[in-house]
Amino acid sequence: MEAALLAWFAVHGRDLPWRRTRDPYAILVSEVMLQQTQVERVVPRYLEWLERWPSADVLACASPADVIRAWQGLGYNRRGLNLLRAARQVVRDGWPDDLTQLPGVGPYTAAAVANFALGKDLLPEDVNVRRVQERTGRSFSAGAAQALMDLGATVCLARIPRCGACPLAAACPSRGRRYEPLRTQSRFEGSFRQRRAHTLSLVAAAERPLAELDREAVHSLARDGLVSIDADVVALPA
Ligand code: ADE
Repeated sequence: MEAALLAWFAVHGRDLPWRRTRDPYAILVSEVMLQQTQVERVVPRYLEWLERWPSADVLACASPADVIRAWQGLGYNRRGLNLLRAARQVVRDGWPDDLTQLPGVGPYTAAAVANFALGKDLLPEDVNVRRVQERTGRSFSAGAAQALMDLGATVCLARIPRCGACPLAAACPSRGRRYEPLRTQSRFEGSFRQRRAHTLSLVAAAERPLAELDREAVHSLARDGLVSIDADVVALPA
């Protein structure tokens, strides 16, 4: 089954910029951006990021304010700050053997960097990879990771899989099944996350008096280190 998957990937695999490098820093940037943001939205932002901050050494010298501004629109802004903290840790101590020791890096991201950058025999299991494995009832080797991600993103779709286009369909016990919609990310409109994002974008444009802002959102952002409050003026952290 894996051979059929890899043959499919050789023809239909997506040409994504982070697949053209084995630089652990670049792979880390891509995987952190991809944690909660779609591939199409990540591609241009990834390229801009690496243009501006091509290595951990360069990023480590950036200010939190620059990084927060550069992250605007990607969502879940803590991820950007964590990337800065990770770069500073790498510059100070080198890459840790256990990548989950870096801020913002969980088991999935650690496995992705270990596999794609360092060639380690670890399969990063994101939702797409897990879905293909569950539906086929097979487990795949680490070398099939990118192929599984693409199959899950373009063919083995969550609700209505395109089994007619699937290289694994002949041997798949789930072939032809349909699935109930599953809301994974909660609604953004009207959420506290939206209030935080709006407040952060105001502060990113210019520092503002606390009294003009959504107080609850400001305090939540401050707890995450995304804004600082000094004499009742809210600004990005220097
Ligand atoms: N989603 C998370 N990591 C990915 C990758 N390396 N390629 C495509 N989609 C992904």
